[in-house]
Amino acid sequence: MKPIQVGLLGIGVVGSGTFNVLKRNQEEIKRRAGRGIEITMVADLDTARARAAVGEGVQVVNDARAVIANPDIDIVIELIGGTNIAKTLVLEAIAAGKHVVTANKALLAVHGTEIFAAASARGVMVAFEAAVAGGIPIIKALREGLTANRIQWIAGIINGTTNFILSEMRDKGLDFGVVLKEAQALGYAEADPTFDIEGIDAAHKATLMSAIAFGVPVQFDKAYIEGITKLGAADIKYAEQLGYRIKLLGITKRRQGDANQGQADGIELRVHPCLIPAKRLIAKVEGAMNAVVVQGDAVGTTLYYGKGAGSEPTASAVIADLVDITRLQSADPHHRVPHLAFQPNAMSDLKVLPMSAVVTSYYLRLRVADETGVLAKVTGILAEAGISIDAVLQREADEVSGSARVAQTDVIILTHDCVEAKMNAAIAQMQALPSVLEPITRIRKEELA
Ligand code: HSE
Repeated sequence: MKPIQVGLLGIGVVGSGTFNVLKRNQEEIKRRAGRGIEITMVADLDTARARAAVGEGVQVVNDARAVIANPDIDIVIELIGGTNIAKTLVLEAIAAGKHVVTANKALLAVHGTEIFAAASARGVMVAFEAAVAGGIPIIKALREGLTANRIQWIAGIINGTTNFILSEMRDKGLDFGVVLKEAQALGYAEADPTFDIEGIDAAHKATLMSAIAFGVPVQFDKAYIEGITKLGAADIKYAEQLGYRIKLLGITKRRQGDANQGQADGIELRVHPCLIPAKRLIAKVEGAMNAVVVQGDAVGTTLYYGKGAGSEPTASAVIADLVDITRLQSADPHHRVPHLAFQPNAMSDLKVLPMSAVVTSYYLRLRVADETGVLAKVTGILAEAGISIDAVLQREADEVSGSARVAQTDVIILTHDCVEAKMNAAIAQMQALPSVLEPITRIRKEELA
């Protein structure tokens, strides 16, 4: 059978990795797919870069629409990124009857509903393994390997840049700003690192995992997102003393609301720094590596670990999608694995809960005047709110010096689970105490048990 023909839009780091791995492993891949897979056309605005990456024998153009218009192309790989031109081109490729492979998490997290609907209507596949956690086959695991399970929760380190920064902060006791500069110098962080450090990239990925896990539409706009820019070295140190590590986690959880308390069922979808017990395997994931923990009712806890970015790790995921499409393209569209794991007519309308309704436990750090009764007042507010304390750590008072008239100290409190709205109210009350001298630091905590 003649090889399946692939057109590539954008040949940067991942595109050239895809070309190279496909070429290097072509015999193995053909034995697996049942048919050869060849990139025969590449579009890139920088045609010289494209030509250098693919050599002779591949058609190189500077117009992506020429690839989409080519009737010989069966699959279009979109590696342009962003949500503007990439969206237009993906929809045009679908309309032209091409299957699409993309690594574009932002595109699918924001416009996935429209794109998957267009693909279903046209009977083509949109595959996106590379969009979440790079080389880790987490989409395949959630959509197929764990298909027997009612998924209960997913928690992942799904951004390598921030995990590298947090690892360095912990290892070396450095502040965020210093480590960010180091990460940029080493090429781990972009010149504009906003998407990574503000948690947006992780939220795109968490949104996709949430949709696949629970059979709900992609709802990036409902995700709660908090990055790592405000994390202090002191909190990382205190967390460690209490037996925890701080990681930026993407979390999505099925929540059964307590009707007696007026709570609705729903889904939690959130990205924020999080204390996790140091003894959990995921707490030991260091540097730019990614890891995802999935809790299913039948299988229990499973953990997926690997490189979340990079040329060939991401190419590994892109090519897995090419092989899947090659195997399935002649199948009746209704008998293929659904884009979001659940049949489109069987999606749930379970709502993403507002952050105020999320239930979790907390780390609080209060900078207080070292005066009689401060701790009693603080713990009294928590008791009054019905928030149970798990542990308290009080540092020795700092020596009084300079303009300070009273000694100051840090009080660190770990709580048991409570609903976020209750904690917000308690923090506001504690903040109003004259002995609480600085804004209270609050970091959420997950046992991941
Ligand atoms: N910038 C991402 C990260 C990789 O740092 O993990 C691509 O999503």
